Amino acid sequence: MAEIVIVENADAAGELVSDAILSLVTRKPDAVLGLATGSTPLPSYRALAAKVESRAVDVTRIRGFALDEYVGLPVEHPESYRSVITKEVVEPVGLTPELVQVPNGDLATIQTAGDDYEAAIVEAGGIDLQILGIGRTGHVGFNEPGSSLASLTRTKTLTEQTRRDNARFFDSIDEVPVYCITQGLGTILRARHLVLLAFGEAKADVIAAAVEGPVTASQPGSIIQLHPHTTVIVDEGAASKL
Ligand code: GLP
Repeated sequence: MAEIVIVENADAAGELVSDAILSLVTRKPDAVLGLATGSTPLPSYRALAAKVESRAVDVTRIRGFALDEYVGLPVEHPESYRSVITKEVVEPVGLTPELVQVPNGDLATIQTAGDDYEAAIVEAGGIDLQILGIGRTGHVGFNEPGSSLASLTRTKTLTEQTRRDNARFFDSIDEVPVYCITQGLGTILRARHLVLLAFGEAKADVIAAAVEGPVTASQPGSIIQLHPHTTVIVDEGAASKL
């Protein structure tokens, strides 16, 4: 059973997540972080940046692996996850850019990009702490319902719902890519500690399904039940159907 922590809001969660990361980095200065995009983890990244600055923590040896990326969107596009991770995590926290990887969504190399990413994670010694958000379809990373529980990094097709949800970051839904590359559910399960974050009532159904429902590919978040060390940090809204 995952450890469930109910907090007042996303900022309070950010305090807990940033403390967990800093305690890990104190023990292991070259810790490997799994980084999620989406709006949910942003307060955690902000809290981490503030603490790193005020406590003068050396974060230059931390390594990072993002969960996912759009396929076919130029990396310099402001909504590519490479751009988002750089702007929201690498720069404010002061991580070493070369040590933070994002799956490569370039069409020219997409055939081997999944295997290359898996190899890079293994070479880094595996992910110590994986931050996860969850989409309203129940997706984690971009593993939409139906993803194999043992899947590794590969390309996927986004659902209409996810494209509509992410259209807020683009000028229109037509600009939201159709394909993505994402760590698989099996990749995520290899991380040593999973920290799943969700806030607001819109996430209540998928959190209840992930925490208490059957373990099923129809609810990708339910993989947390297969993991020996998961912390779920939610507000009252997201916890309201538990
Ligand atoms: C995005 C990301 C996921 C994220 C999810 C939820 O599409 N690929 O990694 O967890 O959707 O987004 P938000 O945190 O904005 O609700």
